[in-house]
Amino acid sequence: MPESFVVTIEPLGRQVVCREDQPILDACLRAGVWLPHSCTHGTCATCKCDIVDGDVDHGEASTFALMEFERDEGKLLTCCATPRSDVTIEADIDVDEDIEMHSVEDFVGTLVSLDEVARDTVRLVVELDRDMAFNAGQYMKFTVPAAADGSAGSVDRTWSIASPPSQPRTLEFHVRKVPGGRGTDGWVFRTLAVGDQIPMSGPYGRFVLHTGQDNHTIMVAGGTGLAPIKSMLRHGLENGSYEGEMTLYQGGRSREWLYDVDVFRRLAAEYDQFTYRPCLSEETAEDVAASGDDPDAYAYGMVTDVLAADHASLSGCKGYLCGPPLMVEAALKTLMSKRLFPRDIYREEFFNEG
Ligand code: FES
Repeated sequence: MPESFVVTIEPLGRQVVCREDQPILDACLRAGVWLPHSCTHGTCATCKCDIVDGDVDHGEASTFALMEFERDEGKLLTCCATPRSDVTIEADIDVDEDIEMHSVEDFVGTLVSLDEVARDTVRLVVELDRDMAFNAGQYMKFTVPAAADGSAGSVDRTWSIASPPSQPRTLEFHVRKVPGGRGTDGWVFRTLAVGDQIPMSGPYGRFVLHTGQDNHTIMVAGGTGLAPIKSMLRHGLENGSYEGEMTLYQGGRSREWLYDVDVFRRLAAEYDQFTYRPCLSEETAEDVAASGDDPDAYAYGMVTDVLAADHASLSGCKGYLCGPPLMVEAALKTLMSKRLFPRDIYREEFFNEG
């Protein structure tokens, strides 16, 4: 029977019980104590906190996310560290009072469909064993079975929920194949089949839609970074929770990399407040016309260039960016050059191990 310790989280003054084999972040999120996190496996450093008192095992924390001198200074990554005594940590908790965060729980999902939607990209629809409350933009952690590629031990992979919270049991996910990736190449794209049961936990993350001051929300998505953005858009539009304007810039090299274009076109036709800008960086209007498609249905160039050309100023807007780190970085610079404050730009970069 693993021993348990008490973890005190300052400045909240909250205490949670954590097993010696359980990451502190996991114990906190399951107890409804929100701590910052992103990758949940020791590479992004989002969850770095100070140890005020007590001992921990740093587990799988990478040496670039938590350097040796930081360990000596008494820092830890809550997603990897397990307690070796009662522990007090100090976290930089910047909780948005307007958003109710939900405790993490374990679920079993049954795969009800798996469809190719773009090049090397599939849509998974999973039926949970019970309803789950979550915020639009959050993600789930899947347990990839040990037997999937013959290697020992299961591993975790995280994918964002693309469906809105109004569907609390039927969740949609978008998965891009990463060559050699154990969760994608070795499982989703190889052996995962409709009817399979998948242990998962969630909801995680705080890349969520803020609906307080509705003005104009600019969303920029690359690749499967579209998933959390789609959840936010549908949530904001379909249940009337967002009254301002919303514009989606979806970037892809060519049409074979873009997906759900028809979904967003339908939403744009139905909701006056929503504008959709699918952007092609490596196809031209001539290419599109030559294939019989409407060249005016797309914008051409890098998604950030199209965004920059569309707006003289974005002062007072909010930005949501999700996709590969380089795209997110470029979009951040573009939004800031258009006078959008960093505090009004929410972003999620994909730490995609595949
Ligand atoms: Fe802990 Fe990324 S390093 S959440």
